[in-house]
Amino acid sequence: MKNKICELLEKNRQNTKNGSLPTYIPELIKTDPEILGIYISKLNGEEFGCGNYKHKFTMQSISKVITLMLALEDNGEKFVFSKVGMEPTGDSFNSMMKLEIVTPSKPFNPMINAGAIAVTSMIKGISSKEKWDRILDFLRKITCNPNLDINKSVYISEKSTGDKNRALAYFLKDVGIIVGDAEDQLNVYFMQCSIEVDCCDIARIASFIANNGIIPSSGEKLVSKKNAIIAKTFMLTCGMYDGSGEFAINAGIPAKSGVGGGIMAVVPNNLGIGVIGPALDIKGNSIAGVKLLSDISKEFDLSIF
Ligand code: DON
Repeated sequence: MKNKICELLEKNRQNTKNGSLPTYIPELIKTDPEILGIYISKLNGEEFGCGNYKHKFTMQSISKVITLMLALEDNGEKFVFSKVGMEPTGDSFNSMMKLEIVTPSKPFNPMINAGAIAVTSMIKGISSKEKWDRILDFLRKITCNPNLDINKSVYISEKSTGDKNRALAYFLKDVGIIVGDAEDQLNVYFMQCSIEVDCCDIARIASFIANNGIIPSSGEKLVSKKNAIIAKTFMLTCGMYDGSGEFAINAGIPAKSGVGGGIMAVVPNNLGIGVIGPALDIKGNSIAGVKLLSDISKEFDLSIF
C-alpha cells in the first residue's frame, strides 16, 4: 500500500501548481505551495507517511470536527441542533447569506464558519480559557501528542484580519444563538483554527473517528459511537463545503478540509488519513489533496458506497 500511495502522491504533485494560497489570512501565504504530503494511520496500528508528511500546518476548519464532537458530548444532540442545523449550504465556508433567509435564524451546519463559531460557544467551561484548555487537552489525547499547541503568528494574523467571522459572531449573538461575550467566543474559535499539526496528528484524529470515538492504540473511549457517526456524516455532506458532492462522488470518503491546506479523511472501521497540500482550489480545499484522495480511494476501493 505504501509504495503505491507514495507513487500516487508524486503523480499528483504537479496539481499543486493549479492552486493558490489563501490571502485573507496573511500568515498562511508564508508557505511553499508545492508541498504535498500524506500520512496513513490504520486501526491495526500500522502507520506510514509519503512526501512532505512532516510539514507543519494549522488545522483551520479541520478543528470544527473536534469542537463538534466535544460540544455534542458536553450538551447532547438535542441542544446542539437547537442552535445549528444539519443541512449543506452549497455556499462558501464563510458565507453569511443564508443566516438571514431562514426563520428562526440559525447556521445551516457545524462545518461552515457561522456554525462552527456557534458550536465552539457551546463547549463547557466557566471561562474562555477553560474552554480552550478542554479543546487542547481533548486533541492532545486523541493525537497522542502532548506537545500540540497553537501557532502564535497564525493566531495573531487570523485574529487581526477576522472581521467576517466577527460579523458572523455578532449576528449570531444578536439572534440569541451565541450567549456571552462574542469576542471571547471568537477568540477560542481563532485559537482552535491556529492549532499546529502535521499529517500524522491529522491521521490519528481520523483513525479515532474511523474507530467510532475510541483511541485505537489505547482503547480509551472519548466520544460515543453516535456522536462519532454524526461527525462522519457531516464530514461527508458538508466537510468539503460546496465541493462536498463532487468529493463524495469521486472519493466517497468522509473528509474535512482546512485553508491551511490540510484534509482529514476517515475510512470507517479501517484507517485515518492526513493530507497537506497548501495550494487551494477556488472552494478552499487543497487542490492536489482532493485529487490524491480520489486516486487513493479508487486504487484501494475505499469508497463507503
Ligand atoms: O475562519 C476561517 O476563515 C479560517 N480560520 C478557517 C476556514 C477554513 O479552514 C475553511 N476551509 N477550507
